[in-house]
Amino acid sequence: MTVKKICCIGAGYVGGPTCAVIAYKCPGIQVTIVDLNQARIDAWNSDNLPIYEPGLEDVVFARRGKNLFFSTDVDKAINDADLIFVSVNTPTKKTGMGAGSAADLAYVESATRRIAEVATSSKIVVEKSTVPCRTAQSMRTILEANCRENIRFDILSNPEFLAEGTAITDLFNPDRVLIGALQTEEGLKAQQALVEIYTHWVPIERVITTNLWSSELSKLAANAMLAQRISSINALSAICEATGADVDEVAYACGRDSRIGPKFLKASVGFGGSCFQKDILNLVYLAEQFHLPEVAAYWRQVVIMNEYQKERFVHRIISTLFNTITNKKIAVLGFAFKKDTGDTRESAAITLIKDFIQEHARVHLYDPKVEHAQIYMDLIEPGVADSKAQVEKHLTICSSAYEACQDADAVVVVTEWDEFKDTHLDYQKIYDSMHKPAFIFDGRLILDAPKLRKMGFKVEVIGKHNLAGTA
Ligand code: UDX
Ligand code: ADP
Repeated sequence: MTVKKICCIGAGYVGGPTCAVIAYKCPGIQVTIVDLNQARIDAWNSDNLPIYEPGLEDVVFARRGKNLFFSTDVDKAINDADLIFVSVNTPTKKTGMGAGSAADLAYVESATRRIAEVATSSKIVVEKSTVPCRTAQSMRTILEANCRENIRFDILSNPEFLAEGTAITDLFNPDRVLIGALQTEEGLKAQQALVEIYTHWVPIERVITTNLWSSELSKLAANAMLAQRISSINALSAICEATGADVDEVAYACGRDSRIGPKFLKASVGFGGSCFQKDILNLVYLAEQFHLPEVAAYWRQVVIMNEYQKERFVHRIISTLFNTITNKKIAVLGFAFKKDTGDTRESAAITLIKDFIQEHARVHLYDPKVEHAQIYMDLIEPGVADSKAQVEKHLTICSSAYEACQDADAVVVVTEWDEFKDTHLDYQKIYDSMHKPAFIFDGRLILDAPKLRKMGFKVEVIGKHNLAGTA
């Protein structure tokens, strides 16, 4: 079959860019992206898109109103479509069975039930959200138990591998597209229909077809392995700080082995983002369910190491600042979980700033893209600061790095935004405006430490031993 109309349920970081690119690359296909969140849809229909992603505006503005539509009319879009992407959120459960590790599938289930209830013709239903292995089976059971007569649903798994900040280039030029299907005649036909959509712009040899369960598990596995590399280099960064080895040099030397490769070996204050931790915990939960405690413990350690890295950095800051940051002004540069995104989910900055607030520091924060309301939402936590007013007592959100650093005792670089590099910011000006001794902590290895030391800064860098002490 040839797909003419696509519906995408969920206009978030995954559904929005992915389906906008499908509309862009397949002008003959009508794509409607729906969401229950009216404000989000209004933003998608405005000049001010709800997510920041380099290149996204060009794609959306080129096709919106032609073959790309954003709407809250979920039922109509479901009914019109031949193929439906389910791209809703699957956060880690906060309460109940599996709390803290299992994925909350309530949104997937409710979207699936909606499809079953309103569909008046057969559909291909594509699982796009990252889900635990065998979720497709549950979706199938729900669809088949609730659908009208003579309607069939074929389920595919098509996990998304885009990374935020590079979503559009990743989608234009993916390493691979993975499509899993039931190995039945109908399943394979549905798989072929989705292959045909992607091959509008992706070379066929980059499209991998597998069975449903391999596809579901591969997404968890890929994210777990990527996060594992970061935790590995971060674990080594602790050894570097203790011994005098330099983590950048170690990463480079290891990465030159073609079997290891250079990517994803950048030590940092810890990985964030909506996927890594969630997907590993998902894998942990899966292993526990199948009575594989050693496997569960193995993967859990990747998350434990990530938490340890953030803790270690906070300790290093406090101990360097003469064991107290009470009432000291700490300038934090960056709140997003990585550069080129306004997304803050699981950002290391959240943990760091909460710790600073608990130590009664005065935090002055600057991030070029994150919305202020989002920052308050992330930082309000019972026991640390119960309300916006309480957060405001400890936190000032600034409109530039210079403003944040004015009169600061220490600067902490948390996100690797290009504009924080010493080639962009005037660190001499920052040094002149700070209290002395002026400390700077580089959690992202983006600064030229020797250059800053020459200016007079006391510099501490993740994964690097400060041979001169704090001098
Ligand atoms: C990740 C996967 O890369 C992507 O394939 C998947 O679809 C979703 O999850 P994302 O979370 O958007 O993408 O960003 P990514 O670039 O992977 O970075 C995740 C975190 O790891 C960030 O906090 C980043 O700063 C950190 N990181 C990344 C490091 O600390 N060191 C590195 O070498 C790479
Ligand atoms: P992701 O990063 O996986 O894209 P987001 O949280 O950014 O996740 O986006 C998921 C979107 O899915 C949210 O905007 C949410 O409102 C939407 N959503 C969740 N459940 C439904 C549903 N049943 N119908 C329509 N939209 C939904």
